[in-house]
Amino acid sequence: MTQKRIVLIIGGGIAAYKCLDLIRRLGDRGIAVRAVLTRAAEQFVTPLSVGALSNQPVFTNLFDLDSEREIGHIRLSREADLIVVAPATADLIAKMAGGHADDLASTVLLATDKPVLVAPAMNPRMWLHPATRRNVAQLAADGIEVLAPAVGEMAESGEAGPGRLPEVPEIVSRIEAMLATTQRSRWTRNPVDAVSGGETSSSPADGTSGGTLSGRHVLITSGPTHEPIDPVRYIANRSSGKQGHAIAAAAARAGADVTLVSGPVAIGDPPGVKVVRVETASEMLEAVRAALPADVGVFAAAVADWRVETPGGQKMKKTASAATPRLTLVENPDILRTIASDRNVRPPLVVGFAAETENVITHARRKLKSKGADWIVANDVSPERGVMGGDRNTVHLVSAGGVESWPEMGKSEVAERIVERIAATLRERGAAAE
Ligand code: C5P
Repeated sequence: MTQKRIVLIIGGGIAAYKCLDLIRRLGDRGIAVRAVLTRAAEQFVTPLSVGALSNQPVFTNLFDLDSEREIGHIRLSREADLIVVAPATADLIAKMAGGHADDLASTVLLATDKPVLVAPAMNPRMWLHPATRRNVAQLAADGIEVLAPAVGEMAESGEAGPGRLPEVPEIVSRIEAMLATTQRSRWTRNPVDAVSGGETSSSPADGTSGGTLSGRHVLITSGPTHEPIDPVRYIANRSSGKQGHAIAAAAARAGADVTLVSGPVAIGDPPGVKVVRVETASEMLEAVRAALPADVGVFAAAVADWRVETPGGQKMKKTASAATPRLTLVENPDILRTIASDRNVRPPLVVGFAAETENVITHARRKLKSKGADWIVANDVSPERGVMGGDRNTVHLVSAGGVESWPEMGKSEVAERIVERIAATLRERGAAAE
C-alpha cells in the first residue's frame, strides 16, 4: 500500500511545540509528514527540529526560493492525502475563512482540494469571540473539519477555558480515521501542473491509465552530477542519463507515477514523467528526499563521489606569480545508501546500479550489501565497451537470490525488462501479503 502523506501546517503559538510529538507519533504509524511553518510558528519551533523529526524538508514561506524550486505550493497539496493545521491560531482560522493567500500556509490551504483537519489552540476569549465563532462556522460550511479545543488552564497565568490544543493522541486518531477514508489523488500529468522553476511534467505519450505499475510511485535518479570548482568550472563524469531516463520512460508507460531526479543531461525529458533537475549530489539527495515516499527507488545516477570542499566564489585566475591551485575534495553523501538505510523513508524496493571497469559481479555483490539495496544492476563501463554515452548495455542483475546475466541489448530494452521485473516483484509481494 502506498504510504499516506500529510501536510502539517504549524501555526504560531505556545502549543506549536506539541507538533513535534504529533510528527513523531505519525512517523511511528508510517505516515509521512511534510511541515509548513508560518512565520509566527518559527518563533516557537525551529525548522531544524521539525525537519529532524519529519525527515523531510520544512517549508517556511511562499517566497522561500529554495523550497519553491524543489516543490511548489500546488504540488505540496497535490501530493498529500490530508492537510492538518495544528495548532491553528485564531488568525490562521480567520485567514482560511476569508480565503486569504498571503503566505505559504494560507496559499496551500486555499489551493488544496484535499480534506483538511484543523486543531485549534488559542486563548479562550479569542476562541469564544463572535468573530472566531463565525469563522469556525464558515470552515465547517466549507467542509473543513475543526476539532473542539481542549478545556483547561492556558499558558498565560489565570486564564482557563476552551482553547487548549486537543490532546495529541486525539489528533492522531482523527488523522488516522480521515486517512482511512481518503484516497490519494493521482497526479494529473499535465504541463500546467509544473509550478516550480526546476521542475516540469509532461503528458504520457500514450495516455496510459492502467498498467502493471499503475498506482505506484517510482522515483528514479539519472545522469551525472556537476560539482562546482568555481562559478564557471565543475567536476563531472561521462554519464549521459540514457539508461536512467529510459527506465523512467518505461515505468511511465507501465502506468507508474514517475519522479525523475536528473543531473545535467543533454537528452530530452521522458514523456509522462515529473522531472526535477539538479546539479550537485547534495541537491540530488534533497530532491530525492522531497519526492519520497515512493514504492520503488531506482538509483541510476552517476553521482560524483567527491566535491570540492570550498568552491571559489569568483573564477580562479591564472597568473604568472600564483601557484598552481590544489583542490581539496570532500566526500559527497551516498544517496542510495542514505535512503536505503533510513527505515523511515526507504522505498520497499530499492534498486542500485554499479558501473564497474573490472570484476563487475564481485563488486556488485559487495555493493548490494554495503548500500543496502535489494538489487544491483551491474554493468561493465570500460571505455572499449562504449556503454557510457552509448545506446547499448550488457547488465547483470545481482540480488540476494543470485546473479542473472542478460545478453547485450539496447538501453530501452534493458529498461523495459527492469520495469517488468519491478512490476512482477511488487505483484508477488502483494500476493504473498494477502
Ligand atoms: O559506489 P558506486 O558509485 O559505484 O555505487 C553506485 C550506486 O550508488 C548507483 O546506484 C549510484 O546511483 C549510487 N550512488 C549514490 N550516491 C553516491 C554514489 C553512488 O546514490 N554518492
